[in-house]
Amino acid sequence: GTGTFFVGGNWKCNGTKESITKLVSDLNSAKLESDVDVVVAPPFVYIDQVKSSLNGRIEIAAQNSWVSKGGAFTGEISVEQLKDTGCKWVILGHSERRHVIGEDNQFIGKKAAYALGQGLGVIACIGELLEEREAGKTFDVCYQQLKAFADAVPSWDNIVIAYEPVWAIGTGVVATPVQAQEVHVAVRDWLKNNVSAEVASKTRIIYGGSVNGGNCAELAKQEDIDGFLVGGASLEGLIGTPMLNAD
Ligand code: G3H
Repeated sequence: GTGTFFVGGNWKCNGTKESITKLVSDLNSAKLESDVDVVVAPPFVYIDQVKSSLNGRIEIAAQNSWVSKGGAFTGEISVEQLKDTGCKWVILGHSERRHVIGEDNQFIGKKAAYALGQGLGVIACIGELLEEREAGKTFDVCYQQLKAFADAVPSWDNIVIAYEPVWAIGTGVVATPVQAQEVHVAVRDWLKNNVSAEVASKTRIIYGGSVNGGNCAELAKQEDIDGFLVGGASLEGLIGTPMLNAD
């Protein structure tokens, strides 16, 4: 693997003050491995609650951000506000934003450039639909999504790439370790050929899509899987991955 293992818990549009109080308390009492970066992404309205109750071992990501400086953009949340409330990261290009909300590659690239420019780390998500995989277009789709990030960002220093095949997200159908590794290698090769060998070797590529306590260990053994982005299982505490537990 590359760099420090990275595990993110993306809570998506879930939770209440009460359930989040419980989740934070579970996270605070967990004995996490020391050599793993752990990040949670609460819904915007709970970021302040999480920031003020979660111990400093775990960093906070937002699930989205506005594309430029804040102002007259009703319903949006700016990068400046995310920083003000203690976020260190933002998830951009998540499949739900691409395919449910309709964000396109260019818009996502601009968001990444703006967030990085303001000092946030970016969890840059890519991944193919089932029909694209079945049509043999997995690599092409991932390369186009990567290119949009590469064309927009000034540097890859503060980016973690999350490969999340859309057919594996929230379905219980996890990619096999071989399927995930195959795409992670392709992503790393793309970075080597289109950005630089240094960025290819330093950038963490994490996997997301139905990761849980039962399947994470086998996935983590793959050479090019440098962490996970966990959705559903992260609502169960410990980001759903007992491998983080130092016991
Ligand atoms: O951001 C997380 C991913 O979309 C994975 O979600 O673990 O519920 O499949 P999931």
